[in-house]
Amino acid sequence: MRRAVYPGSFDPVTFGHLDIIRRSAGLVDELIIGVLVNHAKTPLFSAEERVNMLKDVTKNLPNVRVESFSGLSVDFLEMCNARFIVRGLRAITDFEYELQMAQTNRIMSPGIDTIFLTTSLEYAYLSSTTVKEVALYGGDISRFVPGIVADKIAERVSHIKKAEKTDNIS
Ligand code: PNS
Repeated sequence: MRRAVYPGSFDPVTFGHLDIIRRSAGLVDELIIGVLVNHAKTPLFSAEERVNMLKDVTKNLPNVRVESFSGLSVDFLEMCNARFIVRGLRAITDFEYELQMAQTNRIMSPGIDTIFLTTSLEYAYLSSTTVKEVALYGGDISRFVPGIVADKIAERVSHIKKAEKTDNIS
């Protein structure tokens, strides 16, 4: 069984992530998307919400599973009995961080290899951070994320804006 894990924050999942998910799922028997529960960051969506969005947008991919994890990616891989980490490379700016991570992971777990896929050109500019920023300033994000994700972001942004208004009044 050739099993890979695609770890990430996915806050939220974008068309760029989906491109990597579809292509890497075609390379292995099973792809597990590992959603990091990162206590150091305050995400826009809880791990449960991120997992549910990912499950929804990958429901047509039979060999893809979505789980959350905390701690080291390599420990999660060992728990899942997986040998490959999948990561997408958008541009040269990703390279240094990704290489450092891959080398560290390889030293910690020599049996685990990282597979890098180059992001399709049309998504090379895309990140969850920019999507959130565009949404916060009222921009159209329909070309960046699936419809159900865009709806969730719109809901969250309107909640944040309402809370800001209440804070300004009180
Ligand atoms: O989507 P992201 O935020 O770029 O994903 C980063 C992620 C989750 C792959 C990375 O931060 C990670 O693996 N975190 C878990 C902790 C870990 O294993 N750190 C060691 C790698 S150097």
